[in-house]
Amino acid sequence: MKQYKSKLDLSKYLNTLKINDKTIGFVPTMGALHNGHLSLINKCSKENDITVVSIFVNPTQFNNKNDLINYPRTLAKDLDKIKDYCDIVFIPDENEMYNEPDKRLFDFGNIDKVMEGKHRIGHFNGVAQIVSRLFDIVQPTNAYFGLKDFQQVAIIKNLVQQLDLKTNIISCKILREESGLAMSSRNERLAPKLRENAAIINKVLIESKSKKSELTVSELENWVISKLNKNEFIEIEYFSIVDNTTLENITEWKDNITGCIALHTGNVRLIDNVGY
Ligand code: PAJ
Repeated sequence: MKQYKSKLDLSKYLNTLKINDKTIGFVPTMGALHNGHLSLINKCSKENDITVVSIFVNPTQFNNKNDLINYPRTLAKDLDKIKDYCDIVFIPDENEMYNEPDKRLFDFGNIDKVMEGKHRIGHFNGVAQIVSRLFDIVQPTNAYFGLKDFQQVAIIKNLVQQLDLKTNIISCKILREESGLAMSSRNERLAPKLRENAAIINKVLIESKSKKSELTVSELENWVISKLNKNEFIEIEYFSIVDNTTLENITEWKDNITGCIALHTGNVRLIDNVGY
């Protein structure tokens, strides 16, 4: 596995591969890698000649300074986990990615105004800044994003359209712990009792699918919220059933919709989603 810290050196090397028509698959991450990340990297390595992974904790997508400071950084372990699937790892520092501040403001219409966008102001603009910079350097044939961050996938697809990029965005299924809890580096911060209890999130979301025939959309949203809020360790931030492309709340049942949830348990904020 080759390691690059310099964007210029990386893009020079990738250009030599592109001349030989190699397909470049790319998995952007912020490190603290778990099996959810590894499932993306594994899929990428099966579908492309060359797999590039980036590890960079992007300051512009954090709207809370403490979150940024406390974000887990486990580089040595990360490198060890990916060495068998990954050809190139890009580990720039902040100066390399933002040698001057990125002042771009993207317009995503509705899709960055709702759900995560509403509760984490500026978050998706920061995600778009870093992903567009990384795509400029790597110019991937295919880029892999997890549906765990459902709204992020919609933002990235929109970004690629806006910038008229040739990269295919491949969305990858959510990897879950045995209990059904969606894998996340934040799960490590849950006390064992809370982690066990958090299995209820996916259980309720799955159960809600069978209620679709008896309840209206808003009745079903309320059913999920009240069922989970009854749990003494859980406090819901939002649960919305939205159109997969526009992320607008739906009022009548139709196809291509997803229920998205954010909640607090202990002092940890978790997100998850379910397709109906
Ligand atoms: P990060 O949170 O490190 O996630 C990197 C990728 O792993 C994202 O596409 C995310 O959706 C995916 N992922 C995380 N948990 C997963 C799970 N349980 N199952 C499947 N995929 C999972 O998302 C980011 O970093 C950043 O916003 C980034 C895109 C790198 C820009 O900075």
